[in-house]
Amino acid sequence: GSVAVLGAPFSRGQKRRGVEHGPKVIRDAGLIERLSGLDYSIHDFGDLKFHHIENDEPYMEVKFPRTVGAANKKLSGAVSRAIGAGHTLVMLGGDHSLGIGSVEGHAQQCPDLCLIWVDAHADINTPMTSPSGNLHGQPVAFMLKELQDKMPDIPGFSWMKPFLSSSDLVYIGLRDVDPGEHHILKSLGIQYFTMRDIDRLGIQRVMEVTLDHLLARKQRPIHLSFDIDAFDPSLAPATGTPVNGGLTYREGIYITEEIHNTGLLSVMDLVEVNPILGANPEAVEATASLAVDVIASSLGQTREGAHGVIDEIP
Ligand code: ARG
Ligand code: MN
Ligand code: MN
Ligand code: MN
Repeated sequence: GSVAVLGAPFSRGQKRRGVEHGPKVIRDAGLIERLSGLDYSIHDFGDLKFHHIENDEPYMEVKFPRTVGAANKKLSGAVSRAIGAGHTLVMLGGDHSLGIGSVEGHAQQCPDLCLIWVDAHADINTPMTSPSGNLHGQPVAFMLKELQDKMPDIPGFSWMKPFLSSSDLVYIGLRDVDPGEHHILKSLGIQYFTMRDIDRLGIQRVMEVTLDHLLARKQRPIHLSFDIDAFDPSLAPATGTPVNGGLTYREGIYITEEIHNTGLLSVMDLVEVNPILGANPEAVEATASLAVDVIASSLGQTREGAHGVIDEIP
């Protein structure tokens, strides 16, 4: 197969500068070299260029709506073209508002896709429930058909319509859910696994139920949207909204190994790596190198090792 890598250096979905440098630090941590060691042809599509929009006044409390809307429209087109051309795509963020365009572009080509959202946060606030006004806390609300009449017409987003059913989504890693979000998760009956659920069930059972929930009826393309803040801040310190008590390295890698083993991964996002927020260069390097490990594992790097076609032990 062939894997395309696309950078999305964008930060207007939240308030802290620096997350737009995510694609560069993840590449600098050796991403392309690591993927070349797996059995793919790698196409680095470089980084998208996003434009500043003047006078992008808040709409209700929502910050930079036109800028975020335009960036996601551009990303959606690029994702759709890459999938249409037959690639598996890795999208490097940028902040998690980019989930809107990434999943939307993917859904244009694969309307039956399912979504696995690995994150400390549910990112399912509507403009009315959002405590911050930041669009990186709202991307899932833009996607869900069931939330259609809870969403006002936000400037910058007229190019898209909700396309995902709440039963096509599973969350893993939650531990910082706002009251309005909790209400939405419960009332829509969304399948989610908090860190407490991982403590109780173990990550193996969590992945079994996740994949069964999404794939038992039929095999379909998987969109994995991985927020680096799903990991414990001791492992991924360089991120904008760290929350204690996150995934261990082994839990994170187990999640991605299981997703790879389905053979159905079609698009993955790796978002919210912010090099400006690392306390020192080592903290930034650890976070970026963790991102590379997660991407490589999603694409089939194994802990057990592998061999090509070898007839006998040399
Ligand atoms: N729930 C908070 C909010 O709505 C934090 C969201 C953090 N999202 C993220 N992609 N890191 O603002
Ligand atoms: Mn998060
Ligand atoms: Mn997120
Ligand atoms: Mn494989």
